[in-house]
Amino acid sequence: MNPTSSIADIRAHITDTCSIGSDVSVISLECPAIAANARPGNFVNVKVNESSQPLLRRPFCIHDVRGNTIDIMVKNVGKGTNLLCESTCGASVLVLGPLGNSFGVDTVEFDTALLVSGGIGTAPMLFLEKTLAARGVPFMNLVGGRTRTDLLTRGLSNCRTSTDDGSEGFHGNVIELLKQQIQSGSVTGRLKVFACGPNAMLKALARFCKERNIPCELSLESIMGCGVGICYGCMVELNNADGEKETILLCREGPVIDGQRFTA
Ligand SMILES: Cc1cc2nc3c(=O)[nH]c(=O)nc-3n(C[C@H](O)[C@H](O)[C@H](O)COP(=O)(O)OP(=O)(O)OC[C@H]3O[C@@H](n4cnc5c(N)ncnc54)[C@H](O)[C@@H]3O)c2cc1C
Ligand code: FES
Repeated sequence: MNPTSSIADIRAHITDTCSIGSDVSVISLECPAIAANARPGNFVNVKVNESSQPLLRRPFCIHDVRGNTIDIMVKNVGKGTNLLCESTCGASVLVLGPLGNSFGVDTVEFDTALLVSGGIGTAPMLFLEKTLAARGVPFMNLVGGRTRTDLLTRGLSNCRTSTDDGSEGFHGNVIELLKQQIQSGSVTGRLKVFACGPNAMLKALARFCKERNIPCELSLESIMGCGVGICYGCMVELNNADGEKETILLCREGPVIDGQRFTA
């Protein structure tokens, strides 16, 4: 989970946009310097237009890297994401990245990686699974949503899904699905969980993994401003090694943290 060393600020052209649901789009950006240094779990901070509204950049996980292109998967929740989702090919945006640390995939001390995600938290999993696959590491995606239209599985392999309303896949939440997969023997050996999703889901998942001694890394979310440790807008309270509370800047020391630090 080393922080990235070379950060670029690029005016990037949008080379493709693809709606993958009623409120989610995948946006491709030509960013050679960012693509060359990106690692799974990193994010970019995007100034979505030239005007002062919205003033601040918006953070997005790197969803995929293809040659000189990075893809981001954007859920339309407000002004900035709406502008991005409605932008067209040829438009340009300012992209700062790659930012933050990354998922720990350099030392593989496990037999199977379990990529657990909920809602838009599935965004970083394609890049992560491709990196694991290139290294020959077995993995399984466990993707959850409230209902079937929340499942963002496009491009993913070896996928199990869950929905709260039972409209697709396992009927229940993604942690219950994980429990079922472990109990049924579908995943065996030394497991490691890599997760991204709503913070409440990640907190419950951290507890689940702690109780079973399964190592886990979580990609957290917070409101962000600068993305590089200057504005102090992304402070998150975690446990330190002594079990005491400490505050970190998520953009600099995260977004990926050891799950042990996120248990109550
Ligand atoms: C490291 C990181 C990676 C992220 N990756 C992705 C991604 O891959 N895809 C994606 O769609 N979103 C991602 N997000 C969340 C995304 O940045 C926010 O949804 C976005 O900034 C909202 O901007 P807006 O102008 O559309 O919304 P606003 O109009 O600013 O706010 C609309 C609503 O979204 C909430 N919101 C604003 N910022 C955030 C935030 N950072 N996190 C959670 N809620 C927020 C507000 O509280 C409000 O309820 C990520 C956030 C972080 C911190
Ligand atoms: S977003 Fe500015 S310090 Fe983290």
